[in-house]
Amino acid sequence: MFLLCALTAAVLAAAQPQQPAVQKATRVGSSTCQACHDDIHTAFQKNAHAAVDKDKRRGWEGNACESCHGPGSIHAESGDKKDILNPARQAPAQADKMCLSCHLNQPTHAGRIQGGHARSQVSCVSCHPVHKAEGSQLLLSKAADINRQCASCHPQVWAQFQRPYKHRLPEGAMSCVDCHNPHGSFLPKSVRTVAANEPGCLNCHGNLRGPFTYEHSPVRLEGCTACHQPHGSANPRMLTRHEVRFVCLECHFNRPAATPEAAAPTLGGVPPALHDLRNPRYNNCTICHVKIHGSNVDRALMR
Ligand code: HEC
Ligand code: HEC
Ligand code: HEC
Ligand code: HEC
Ligand code: HEC
Ligand code: HEC
Ligand code: HEC
Ligand code: HEC
Ligand code: HEC
Ligand code: HEC
Repeated sequence: MFLLCALTAAVLAAAQPQQPAVQKATRVGSSTCQACHDDIHTAFQKNAHAAVDKDKRRGWEGNACESCHGPGSIHAESGDKKDILNPARQAPAQADKMCLSCHLNQPTHAGRIQGGHARSQVSCVSCHPVHKAEGSQLLLSKAADINRQCASCHPQVWAQFQRPYKHRLPEGAMSCVDCHNPHGSFLPKSVRTVAANEPGCLNCHGNLRGPFTYEHSPVRLEGCTACHQPHGSANPRMLTRHEVRFVCLECHFNRPAATPEAAAPTLGGVPPALHDLRNPRYNNCTICHVKIHGSNVDRALMR
């Protein structure tokens, strides 16, 4: 048992390169840091965390710098970098824990633990650098800037947005975070949710929300990406195939007439089946099945 504890402690110590000097230090206040880091201190006044310097309630008043860097009395005397915490030198999980000491359980972080970025050790500060000349860099506000940041690590996704039909990200009219929550979500691939864990697509395409009397089951059960490629596609409706019918036939495939079901008007069977796929008339499925996402009046999704 003791051995186990010792082992755990050793592993923890290795995982958290906390300098012993930092642990013994006490707080000296942001104005002390200013004496030697005036440029950072000045820029910091535009940072949202400047609010921490005024936070009486949690006891950080006047100590914003040390809320992230730990107590600094020893470093303030030595000026030695060994004596102060620098999140940039910590393991992402460790640095994130520090950020989360204040930001845990905020609305956008509900699923942070299962987010792809947390799993892959992309730390908070790789997207929210704290000390840029402009304090506002903490939170990018322009869609084009957010896209640029995401694209810097996801170039293959950005390439998909160069296809002929796509959401207007390259134009800066939308950003990745309209569809993804970079902090994680309850849907796979960190896809943003709206009410009742529906995909965030419905925020903008609310007319497709339903519920419909006659659902097209994959819309709800498999989600929009069963048929669409929201990052971009060669098809004008951003379908997964360049022609509509190939999307449909992946599930409604050509069944031979010799089966018992052939007694019913099966799709694509030999005539007199309802749909003779050799006839061009039947090639454009959504000419007839116009309510492809669901209908309130027609089981065959034609009205
Ligand atoms: C007496 C001057 C002085 C004071 C006061 C001071 N620093 Fe520093 N600090 C320095 C110097 C010099 C360096 C650069 C050390 C180096 O590069 O070796 C530094 C480096 C740092 C670093 C980077 C460490 C690294 O790993 O590279 C951080 C973070 C830091 N200071 C935070 C603070 C904070 C927070 C305070 C207030 C609690 C503070 N400093 C007060 C002189 C000071
Ligand atoms: C919200 C957390 C946070 C606060 C508050 C904060 N810092 Fe930092 N600081 C960081 C992080 C994270 C880094 C690592 C570099 C980066 O990613 O921005 C850093 C890096 C530094 C560095 C090293 C800079 C370099 O270029 O390597 C210094 C010096 C520093 N901070 C000083 C300060 C001072 C002085 C204050 C108060 C005015 C302060 N910090 C407040 C999080 C914080
Ligand atoms: C001591 C508590 C504390 C710590 C530690 C902390 N924050 Fe904050 N953070 C705040 C407060 C307070 C605000 C301002 C909130 C507001 O205005 O609603 C804030 C705001 C933010 C914002 C939003 C900025 C904006 O312009 O609205 C981001 C992004 C952020 N923090 C990221 C981080 C990151 C990354 C870290 C770790 C490097 C971190 N925070 C550590 C308290 C903290
Ligand atoms: C510092 C690099 C980096 C940045 C910046 C970055 N990502 Fe990622 N992202 C990763 C890594 C690493 C993974 C995990 C490996 C993978 O799935 O490609 C990942 C995974 C993802 C995933 C799939 C994750 C999942 O939950 O299954 C999505 C979606 C994503 N990122 C979206 C974004 C968005 C949106 C932005 C901009 C706000 C962004 N990324 C910025 C590195 C980054
Ligand atoms: C992959 C990039 C990325 C990572 C990693 C990331 N964020 Fe964010 N964060 C963003 C973007 C982009 C926004 C703006 C989000 C939006 O509009 O929904 C944001 C918004 C925020 C905000 C503003 C308020 C809010 O809730 O919307 C806070 C606070 C915040 N992030 C904290 C954090 C913390 C803490 C971590 C680490 C645990 C973290 N972020 C990791 C990209 C990231
Ligand atoms: C219109 C909505 C939408 C936009 C905008 C969007 N995505 Fe996605 N993205 C999705 C959906 C939906 C999925 C899930 C696909 C699936 O289920 O396989 C996805 C999947 C992903 C994945 C994981 C799967 C893969 O292709 O590797 C990554 C990474 C990703 N997106 C990154 C981004 C980045 C980066 C941006 C911005 C440049 C972005 N996305 C913009 C909707 C969007
Ligand atoms: C922020 C709002 C927004 C979100 C979120 C969004 N879209 Fe869109 N979508 C649009 C707009 C606006 C258009 C119109 C096309 C354009 O921008 O040129 C569009 C076009 C489309 C089209 C082509 C429609 C046509 O008329 O040609 C499809 C398909 C589509 N979106 C699917 C999705 C899917 C699937 C998702 C979720 C993964 C999604 N959208 C999320 C705003 C959004
Ligand atoms: C079973 C396949 C399928 C699924 C699942 C699906 N769609 Fe579609 N969607 C289509 C087809 C096919 C079209 C093109 C219809 C046409 O040819 O006019 C289309 C067209 C669209 C359009 C443009 C025309 C319109 O009706 O407004 C949007 C927007 C759209 N889909 C969004 C979505 C969203 C959001 C989801 C998820 C909630 C979704 N789709 C799920 C097959 C599907
Ligand atoms: C991801 C698989 C999938 C794709 C792709 C798909 N469907 Fe379906 N579709 C289904 C399933 C499952 C049902 C429900 C079948 C049942 O209830 O027997 C269904 C039902 C239907 C129905 C109603 C049948 C009935 O009488 O209940 C029509 C019409 C239909 N699909 C047409 C289409 C068309 C047109 C396309 C192409 C735009 C398409 N489907 C794409 C899986 C799919
Ligand atoms: C010319 C109009 C038309 C076109 C084009 C068309 N259909 Fe149909 N489809 C119908 C009619 C009519 C029915 C029978 C409706 C009923 O039973 O009330 C039907 C029924 C269906 C059914 C349900 C019956 C079954 O066999 O299970 C499916 C699935 C279906 N169509 C898929 C497709 C697909 C996939 C395409 C494209 C390859 C397509 N349809 C093209 C008119 C059309």
